[in-house]
Amino acid sequence: MELLFYSLAGIIVIVVIAVSRKSIVAGMEARSDIKRENKPSNNEEGIEDITNENIEKTNEQVKIINQIDDLILIVDKFKNIKFFNNSAKKKFGENNLNKHVATLLRVPDLLQNIDLVLLKKETITMDLELSSPSFQFFKVYLFSGPTSYVDDPDSVVLFLKDLTDIIKAQRFKSDFVANVSHELKTPLVSIKGFLETISGHAKDDLEAQKKFIPIMLEQADRMESLIKDLLSLSKIELEEHIQPQDKVNLKEILNNVEDIHQKNLKPFEFKNNIKDDFFIKGDHEKLIEVFSNINHEKLIEVFSNIIDNSIKYSEKNKKIEVNCGQGNGKVIGDSYTVSIKDNGIGIPTEQLPRITERFFRVDAAKSKKVGGTGLGMAIVKHIVNQHRGELEIKSETQRGTEIKVHFSKF
Ligand SMILES: Nc1ncnc2c1ncn2[C@@H]1O[C@H](COP(=O)(O)OP(=O)(O)O)[C@@H](O)[C@H]1O
Ligand SMILES: [Mg+2]
Repeated sequence: MELLFYSLAGIIVIVVIAVSRKSIVAGMEARSDIKRENKPSNNEEGIEDITNENIEKTNEQVKIINQIDDLILIVDKFKNIKFFNNSAKKKFGENNLNKHVATLLRVPDLLQNIDLVLLKKETITMDLELSSPSFQFFKVYLFSGPTSYVDDPDSVVLFLKDLTDIIKAQRFKSDFVANVSHELKTPLVSIKGFLETISGHAKDDLEAQKKFIPIMLEQADRMESLIKDLLSLSKIELEEHIQPQDKVNLKEILNNVEDIHQKNLKPFEFKNNIKDDFFIKGDHEKLIEVFSNINHEKLIEVFSNIIDNSIKYSEKNKKIEVNCGQGNGKVIGDSYTVSIKDNGIGIPTEQLPRITERFFRVDAAKSKKVGGTGLGMAIVKHIVNQHRGELEIKSETQRGTEIKVHFSKF
């Protein structure tokens, strides 16, 4: 599959360059034909038509080269840049003509390969991975000149095919599989170990069995939550592009969430301020049917996960508050914002951007102890995305966390 992709990319490169070269040469010839236009001819009109057509074709090819997402650079034998297309301009900046290629791409392998192409006039392909300013991955094709752009046999065309998104997705997938396997394996190994103990040397040891069985149950619960969250995540990912069309009652949803967590919320000072807030603003009527395009069950999952975190990462007796406000520009048009605020342990500022990553936990041991899977906020993010909403997370360590979900009014 990968091989097929790269071969196709290679063929496209060769065709683009060959066609543009042929066409530009044809265009140049066409121009000289125009210059000779006064010469007598049997079919003057015909020639003129063909030449204009060629010029148009040439311009079109140049346009294509400038519109493709891939980067094209041509360097001379001193490795100074003699041509670059718009994408390369966008990436490296406007004023790089005649600069040494190493000022843009300081990659020893690339420089060596340019030398090889200059020497052997062969085509070379290589992978190029850049880490700064952010991860980027290119398949680079190096061809020998001359080209229509640089009429010098001692030049090299660098065609950089941007595969960043594909490689990122591939690495993400394999990281994800490794993470899932690890997360499931840990409780499984522990259950197996305990089973071996109580069926082996502790066969008749009632005390040991009393001690181990609850731990095994806890580990089995952990595996169950993980599988539940994984299924939930994969389902929402599949549906992320489909905007739900159900009309829901937001008050009802938050009441449901409160009911679901009633037992766990008891030790906290829980306040659902939505009703009062909206009576004051006289918007109660609208609130009853606020959200179209929102799916009831999924919205319960969003707020359940957020409140569950407030419970898990706050000490008993602390305040957990739910509020609802209107339009503050986070999403286009009129909007509603539901806020869930706790006074818990908070999240360090530098970790905030990672909170919605799968399996990311500020403190993995703490999360495991309270029964976390590291998938809750990833699920929240995907569901909010599906509803074309926005998620806003504010937090301060030891002060607390506020998570806001913004949705458009229908
Ligand atoms: N309200 C919160 N207070 C403190 N930390 C939080 C809060 N919500 C999320 N976090 C941090 O974000 C991590 C990811 O959250 P989540 O995806 O729900 O996974 P978990 O299953 O660990 O709760 C948590 O492990 C925790 O470190
Ligand atoms: Mg959680």
